Amino acid sequence: MDNFKRTLVTTALPYANGPVHIGHLAGVYVPADIYVRYLRMKGEDVLLIGGSDEHGVPITLKAKNEGVTPQDIVDRYHGIIKKAFADFGMTFDVYSRTTSETHYETASEFFKTLHEKGEFVEKVSDQYYDDEAKQFLADRYITGTCPHCGNDGAYGDQCESCGTSLNATDLKNPVSVISGSVPVVKKTKHWYLPLDKHEPFLKKWILEDHKEWKANVYGQCKSWIDLGLQPRAVSRDLNWGVPVPVEGGDGKVLYVWFDAPIGYISATKELTPEWEKYWKDPETKMLHFIGKDNIVFHCIVFPAMLKAEGSYNLPENVPANEFLNLEGDKISTSRNWAVWLHEYLEDFEDQQDVLRYVLCANAPETKDNDFTWKDFQARNNNELVAILGNFVNRAIVLTHKYYGGKAPAMGSVVEDFDNETLAQIDGIVKKVEASLNTYRFREAVKEMMNLARLGNKYLADTEPWKLIKTDEERVKTIMYVSLQITANLSVLMEPFLPFSAVKLQTMLNLFGVNWEDLGRTDLIPEGHEINKPELLFAKIEDEQIQKQLDKLEATKTANEAAAKTVEPAKDNISFDDFTKMDIRVGTIVSAEKVAKTKKLLKLEVDTGIDVRTVVSGIAEYYQADEIVGKQVNILVNLAPRKIKGIESQGMILMAEDADGKFVFIQPSVEVKPGSGVS
Ligand code: 2FM
Ligand code: ZN
Repeated sequence: MDNFKRTLVTTALPYANGPVHIGHLAGVYVPADIYVRYLRMKGEDVLLIGGSDEHGVPITLKAKNEGVTPQDIVDRYHGIIKKAFADFGMTFDVYSRTTSETHYETASEFFKTLHEKGEFVEKVSDQYYDDEAKQFLADRYITGTCPHCGNDGAYGDQCESCGTSLNATDLKNPVSVISGSVPVVKKTKHWYLPLDKHEPFLKKWILEDHKEWKANVYGQCKSWIDLGLQPRAVSRDLNWGVPVPVEGGDGKVLYVWFDAPIGYISATKELTPEWEKYWKDPETKMLHFIGKDNIVFHCIVFPAMLKAEGSYNLPENVPANEFLNLEGDKISTSRNWAVWLHEYLEDFEDQQDVLRYVLCANAPETKDNDFTWKDFQARNNNELVAILGNFVNRAIVLTHKYYGGKAPAMGSVVEDFDNETLAQIDGIVKKVEASLNTYRFREAVKEMMNLARLGNKYLADTEPWKLIKTDEERVKTIMYVSLQITANLSVLMEPFLPFSAVKLQTMLNLFGVNWEDLGRTDLIPEGHEINKPELLFAKIEDEQIQKQLDKLEATKTANEAAAKTVEPAKDNISFDDFTKMDIRVGTIVSAEKVAKTKKLLKLEVDTGIDVRTVVSGIAEYYQADEIVGKQVNILVNLAPRKIKGIESQGMILMAEDADGKFVFIQPSVEVKPGSGVS
């Protein structure tokens, strides 16, 4: 283990405003749990820290909608989330919550220290205020039109349509989510963490000293730094959160993203009086397991906070994953497009390992990935059942059949193939280790399965069921080898498939074997008695999969029905108003993605009048190279505006289809560019 003496692994604290789903598991918790189990099996000093993030506006809004208190909401979901994680075998050393007393104290102290050290900048700024509700409107308390893409449902902190991070005062047509009224602007004071001041340090620390970070993490950090870091407000005018503990803080709380990562520290404090060893001793390696939407907070904001405080370690690595989609569509709590962990267990009782396996084998490690029920079924039936389960079952069944469950010694007939097979075990173990050490969990689980493949192939090639009639000595050897592979497998699979590993170790009557024993070819010595076989994995039938697909289809239908509520007609306009709009047919002559955005394409459109640039939020619906040559409707006399630094000279008219995707409105036959639309 490098130069470190111990490891502190933190996992993103999920918001306690809903249950957890497969996206959470795949992105953060399955890899973190695998990693920590692996280190523990190696006898290393390691802690796995988790907890619920119980502040933030979505929680207060949900409470308001349901007519209950925020505390009611977080109490409910903290319980559900904690149970789901335990059910799936997550081995947290502590699973805490950010409403705990220790957390309030820790977060307050942290803020006070930074305040006393002069690490904040205090600024008075304009903020929206709801005069009816007598409340400032932070973040998601306000919606309006995105100044970049025109999306009407943008929030005060972010437009989910074009992904831009916003300030509430950037929104056009702002509306209070609380009362629906138009907010007024009022002055308010807040504390800002001057990220700009820490920029030179962060630049060196990440871009030079941590080139080994995953490309997705490094790349995101680089683009933030390249854009220039700005001071970030770390307080809010809200009444749910950790109160700002300094003068002038009345009615204000710490911004949720300031207090949440401190939650890792509070949880460690709750766990052990030796917490400082894990946070401050430079011989501790700290790792943050998170999803890609949390990268900036864990790689830039939290490290800047820790650095400013002065006595803490910084993370050694942040192995963030990308997102998992479900059946081709983004997982969404509000659209109920998810596989909820507690619901999974209702339909697949005791099959936690199957989901752990599929989510690891198909983890969104380097890019977004898709979970499909068909793939889930195939991986279970063709891999877990047909390879791992089948091999182990044959080894144990045949040992009972030939030797009454008592392991044989290596027979007197040994071929090179037997020794070569045994020798391969160690090589596979080394590959699993190398992958785990570099956070490549997909690769690691694949290598682990290669040990089962080795065993399966060995039995298929040697066919002891045929030889038993003619060559008992060789069969002893074959069964001896098979049992050693099985024993190694039962240990090697433990980080990935912990429930099945325990089952297998119980069948093998094999306890107390550690990681360092892997590769040994005498784990099951002569005369060792093994128990009766039980199936490790069961085939998943088409009907079970169909039931899940039907459930999703029903969700889709319900969402579509909800979406079909057509907006009422807008107020009448005069004919003159209409004629002011100059809409033409244009032909797209080139298209390219706008760098560092997910949704924007830069188009060159032949409008008949000229060839002009239009920036359009359609990258999710169209590939740049497939739309060149297409005719579209374009509003040509819309005042030009800058989008991501590019002047956009017009707007492409789009229609929204039943799935919420936007499609071009095109003439039914090709017409001359510049043809008027009226
Ligand atoms: O994105 C989220 O779900 C946040 N609640 C993660 C917080 S991670 C940490 F900082 F607490
Ligand atoms: Zn937008």
